[in-house]
Amino acid sequence: MTEEYTQYDHLFKNVIPNAINGVQIFGMDDTYVKPQDYQNVNNLENGIWEDLFVNLELQMNQYVSREYLLGMQTLPIPRDRFPEFEAISPLIENSTDWQLIPVAGFLSEELFFDLNAQRKFPVTDIIRKSPRFAEKYAHADIQNDVGYTPEPDIFHDIQGHIPFLMNKAYADYMHGVGLLGDEILRDERGLGPELVAHNLKRLQNFAWWTYEFGLIKNTGESDQFRRIKNDIDYEIYGAGIISSFDETLNVVQCAKGQLNHSKFLPFDIEEVVLTRFDYSKIQDRYYVINTMTDMYRDFKDNQNLFWFEG
Ligand SMILES: [Fe+2]
Repeated sequence: MTEEYTQYDHLFKNVIPNAINGVQIFGMDDTYVKPQDYQNVNNLENGIWEDLFVNLELQMNQYVSREYLLGMQTLPIPRDRFPEFEAISPLIENSTDWQLIPVAGFLSEELFFDLNAQRKFPVTDIIRKSPRFAEKYAHADIQNDVGYTPEPDIFHDIQGHIPFLMNKAYADYMHGVGLLGDEILRDERGLGPELVAHNLKRLQNFAWWTYEFGLIKNTGESDQFRRIKNDIDYEIYGAGIISSFDETLNVVQCAKGQLNHSKFLPFDIEEVVLTRFDYSKIQDRYYVINTMTDMYRDFKDNQNLFWFEG
């Protein structure tokens, strides 16, 4: 997968050529649904899940946002083995009308947004560092270690994203992002392929700096849901941080002044929409929203930013 450059991309800051070579991208016309083969998950794979989960457990409780903590309490996401999609999906469906869709791997943006627009969240059933993962991506230039994976795996998809989908306001916001992605891709305003590709990147930037790598200002109000008081200025709500031990540690250490690898910037939707990112490394910046409600409202009130006309 390499990104195609559009004539409007000079408007972007922080441009990094992201390329994951050799990875199959599943699109609308491919057989992308792949039921979870739960009976055949082996001890090694369950053990990897347990290591990842246990390693992050205390930091999750201390630093992740309340929406996540409440969702986690109500879902059957075990600490010591793979979660079963069929046990989780009906609970989310009951709460917010979202469903899990088991998929074969990396999806095209078109397909991803299209599923989100139908309140379906794609999840994969292989895990980083396992032989199945190594085999699947043997020819791809990607990392396969405990700390981080740019490729979707079950730990990122389920442990990182799914608890949030139990929250009604969050579930509606994700749906809104999917619907907008779908509208851009269908070129409802007749802007032409270059602007469609550019506007889609704007939405991708927004998604990256919010639901994948976003932070919230810590007011202390979420401490009532924690066993350990949050001792930094931020709460985490980005799934890309939550599912990575290294990235979580980076946020905490930078917030405490023990590291200066990453900056904490106030969330400015115009800046966020124009800021690209690096898939393959710990982020050099995080955008901090005041509250989830403010971010939802910003998204709703600034849809024009995603309909740039050149
Ligand atoms: Fe993600």
